[in-house]
Formats: sequence, C-alpha cells, structure tokens
Amino acid sequence: MNHRSSTGDILLDAREVTKEYRLGGAFFGARAATLTAVNRLTFSVRRGETLGVVGESGCGKSTLGRVLLRLEDPTSGSVAFEGEDIVRYDHRKLRALRKDMQFIFQDPYSSMNPKMTIRDIVLEPLDNYRKDLSVARKERLAGDLLEMVGLTRDMMRRYPHEFSGGQRQRVVIARGIALNPKFVVCDEVVSALDVSVQAQVINLLADLKQRLSLTYLFISHDLRVIRHVSDRVMVLYLGQIMELAPADELYEGPLHPYTRSLLGAISKGDPRNRQERVILRGEIPSPLNAPRGCPFATRCPIAEARCHEEKPPLVERSDGHAVSCWLV
Ligand SMILES: Nc1ncnc2c1ncn2[C@@H]1O[C@H](COP(=O)(O)OP(=O)(O)OP(=O)(O)O)[C@@H](O)[C@H]1O
Ligand SMILES: [Mg+2]
Repeated sequence: MNHRSSTGDILLDAREVTKEYRLGGAFFGARAATLTAVNRLTFSVRRGETLGVVGESGCGKSTLGRVLLRLEDPTSGSVAFEGEDIVRYDHRKLRALRKDMQFIFQDPYSSMNPKMTIRDIVLEPLDNYRKDLSVARKERLAGDLLEMVGLTRDMMRRYPHEFSGGQRQRVVIARGIALNPKFVVCDEVVSALDVSVQAQVINLLADLKQRLSLTYLFISHDLRVIRHVSDRVMVLYLGQIMELAPADELYEGPLHPYTRSLLGAISKGDPRNRQERVILRGEIPSPLNAPRGCPFATRCPIAEARCHEEKPPLVERSDGHAVSCWLV
C-alpha cells in the first residue's frame, strides 16, 4: 500500500472539523456536559493515498471516520469531498454520496446479521442502491466480489458463523467495495486478527486499492500496522492532531513528545530499533474537561508553563511534516 502519490490532487478536505457530544442532564442532579471527541481537525486526503490515523483508545479515531463520511454530522467545520462541501448535502445528495464513500467496520461479526447468508450480506448495499440490477446480475456480482476478496463463489449460501475471523473480515471488505467506492475508511480492520491473518488482509486491501483506485483512511491503534500500510500518518491525542507526516519520516524522525513516547513503546525489547525512550506519566485527561493548553501537557516530559496555558497550532516544519508543539 506504500504507493507514493506525489500529485497534490485532493480527494477530501477537512477544515476545523469538530464533533461534540452532549452528555448527562438526563438524571436528577446531573449537569449536562460537553465531550469533545474531535477538536478542530484540519487536514486533507490525497487521491490514491493511504492516510493512517493512530492514537490511543478514545482519542477520536472512529468518530472522525464517521464524521468524514457523514454517518454523523459534525458539530462544526467543513468536509469537502471532490471539492463539494458535503456537510451541506441534503438527504438526496447524501444518498448518492454513500456509493462513493464506505466504512469498513472494526468488528465484522457484530456488523453482520447472523441470520443472513453471505450472499445477502455482500449484496446489502446493492439491494439498497442498485435496485436497477436484476437478481441474476446481482448474484453474479456477489460471486465476483467474493472472488475478488479471495473467497469462493460457493460460499454465498453459507452463514457468518461458518467462517473464520479472517474470512468474515473479507466478507465485510467485499460488502465495502460492492458499490465501487472512491474513499474507504478502514476502522481497526485487522486489530482482532492473528498476526499472520492480519498480513493477508492487509495485502488484500493493498491489492484492491490498486485494482479499484481506492483512497483509504486507515484507522488503527497499532503503530506497526499503521507504518506498514500508510503513505502519511496522523497522530491524534484527545481529538487533536499532534503530528502529521509522511510515514517514513514520522517513524524515523518523530518530533512531537507524544509521538516519540508512542514509538518508544513499540521499540521496547527490540535492540535493533532503539529509540530515546520517553516515559509517559499519568493518565489521559478526560475529554470532558480537556486541558486548556496543549492536550498532552499533563503527561509531557518537557512541558513548560506556556504549554498548560496556550494551545500550540499545527505548524509545518518541513515539507509535509507538521507538528503541534511549542517546544520542538
Ligand atoms: N455516541 C457517543 N456519545 C457520547 N460519547 C461518544 C460517542 N461516541 C464516541 N464518544 C466519545 O468520544 C471519544 C472518542 O471516541 P472514539 O470511539 O472516536 O475513539 P477511538 O479513538 O475510536 O477509540 P478506540 O481506539 O477505543 O476505538 C471517547 O471519549 C468516546 O467515549
Ligand atoms: Mg474506534
């Protein structure tokens, strides 16, 4: 998947995208509070690239994916897809957009109805969006899709429980590409799989990307997987971008203390890959009362007074390598 696209052709452009959730208030005495899951994210995705999104649990990865595809509305900000602001799309235009943008879920078992055959699962999007196709045509397509993801046509009549985790993930991928999308959000698609099966599914996604000219937003908390699949990587912390850089550059020369601490964690025990270790203190602050300044300041080994007071902007330090830190 490390196909480097040097052209600046932008497929999706996110400006100041924010997603807040209102919590509480429902119980006697509880005050309503606002949780900011995604906090003013500005970045773009280039046509043909894989943009990796990495960060600890709860940092807003899945929320970002849902908001970019408008499976949820952002609280504020804009998302342009092929130059059009989709935040303003009405129901009819959104429906058309659904064909171009797909979400491949993290837990294939829970996103499949166990009573549906594999055929019906794969054809679900076609049944919704391609009512023009005949039953025979759809049947053929279901078989073609299964073959494209490395399964066989005769598996169509079977049920999800008859499949392994890796096979189920392939079925979900077949469903995800059924409408021939342009942009696919892959959310933890290999996280539940054994390492050997992970590699097969990653290779499948790389192969499909080439064959179908896809663009991926690839979400994972696994730094090794992200390095392997991504052209560029965005590091999130408490819903904000800490660092955004070409994958090799991020892994070889991380600038943000948070990125450095994450990478320190993976190089543990591997003497060939010794990195300066940054020891993380403390817990991630609650997104309900995020720090006023840099979100990472409470755990940062080099934070100064200013970091607790003022939020650092995301600034490009060298070509394509942006970081949000006052001190590096
Ligand atoms: N529907 C919701 N209502 C309220 N809070 C939510 C909702 N969805 C997500 N959140 C909160 O938003 C924050 C970001 O969650 P999100 O699921 O996007 O994180 P994530 O990075 O995908 O985590 P993980 O790695 O565990 O999947 C979390 O604090 C989460 O509790
Ligand atoms: Mg998630």
